[in-house]
Amino acid sequence: MPNLLLLGAGGHACVVADAALRQGAWSAVSASGADAAVSGELLPGVPQQVRAAALTAHGMQPVHVAIGDNAARRRESLALPKGQLVSVVHPQASVSPHAQVAPGCFIAAQAVVAPRASLALGAIVNHGAVVDHDCQIAAFAHIAPGATLAGGVSVGAGVLVGAGARLLPGVSVCAGATVGAGAVVTENIAEPGTYAGVPARRL
Ligand SMILES: CC(C)(COP(=O)(O)OP(=O)(O)OC[C@H]1O[C@@H](n2cnc3c(N)ncnc32)[C@H](O)[C@@H]1OP(=O)(O)O)[C@@H](O)C(=O)NCCC(=O)NCCS
Repeated sequence: MPNLLLLGAGGHACVVADAALRQGAWSAVSASGADAAVSGELLPGVPQQVRAAALTAHGMQPVHVAIGDNAARRRESLALPKGQLVSVVHPQASVSPHAQVAPGCFIAAQAVVAPRASLALGAIVNHGAVVDHDCQIAAFAHIAPGATLAGGVSVGAGVLVGAGARLLPGVSVCAGATVGAGAVVTENIAEPGTYAGVPARRL
């Protein structure tokens, strides 16, 4: 089994490290934040290393960019050599074998990814979020904890769908939009901006 290096050392990286340890697919898991002075362990059994040294020592072994911020995750992911980026899936997530999951995705505990759903490069489906059948999640989008996407929803690149938001069947959210926590999205969001409330309106 290869070693897994996580790029990131914040709260999201802790969650990913925990999932990666439980996934049991790696012989070792280490982490590296952007801070060169970093030391110690991210979690017990997950040593932190200085970024440049960690990447050099790691060679072409698998890397996961464990940064919650969509723009930063995109930047770090696209800087890696093709083929090095891997997904981390918590063993208690339910991911249909008929769903598509691109490299670099993170799927947290109790998340559901239903048949014919697709997650593009670097997407996150966080704790307890539901991505129902035929949803399309574009690259580096983040479906936050407890959000529910009904069937056929489409979420654009880099979109944050906030915690506990609800997206009704078939709606689409364009790239550059943010959906606030607890929002109910009842119709397509076609212009970038921040949308919140029930029903969701542009702030
Ligand atoms: C919607 C959101 C993006 C707005 O953030 P912001 O642009 O910094 O906006 P502000 O906090 O300045 O709030 C602006 C106004 O919107 C209201 N507001 C903020 N978030 C709201 C929400 N989720 N639902 C309803 N109203 C909201 C604020 O009360 C404020 O109202 P006011 O002008 O009457 O005082 C943010 O509050 C949010 O919900 N983010 C999602 C966070 C999340 O789920 N992260 C997941 C991490 S894993």
